[in-house]
Amino acid sequence: MGFLFIVPLSQQVLRNEGAAKETKPMQKHTICIENTGEHYTCADSRSVLEGMEVLGKKGIPVGCRQGGCGVCKVQVLEGSFRRRVMSRAHVSAEEEASGCVLSCRIYPSSNLRLNVIGAMKKNICRPVAPPIFPTPETNP
Ligand code: FES
Repeated sequence: MGFLFIVPLSQQVLRNEGAAKETKPMQKHTICIENTGEHYTCADSRSVLEGMEVLGKKGIPVGCRQGGCGVCKVQVLEGSFRRRVMSRAHVSAEEEASGCVLSCRIYPSSNLRLNVIGAMKKNICRPVAPPIFPTPETNP
């Protein structure tokens, strides 16, 4: 013998609202830029480009930040991420299959290892200028 329970619709809606209010705690991940050996911490709520900006490097191209201009292209070598819509004009399906994405449109869900490519590469990989004034290390 079985029982049939009928749940009023109003209670079903309340259950769904409760589930929607559950929030996951923010997680931080380490992003390693293979080209330069630098790494930085990026919260899963921030795009990889936003996290990269904390490095404070001059010339990090900050374009549209919405996947439309293509200046922030990177190739993810390892790790997982959430992605948002990005223009096929800047990342073809073949490129995406090889890990190329726009850093303003991906959010890390694990530690990432990546290479900067395209327009951003020359700025990120630019050698650091020597100090203007001699230091004990540069003028022994
Ligand atoms: S900043 Fe324009 S595509 Fe990323």
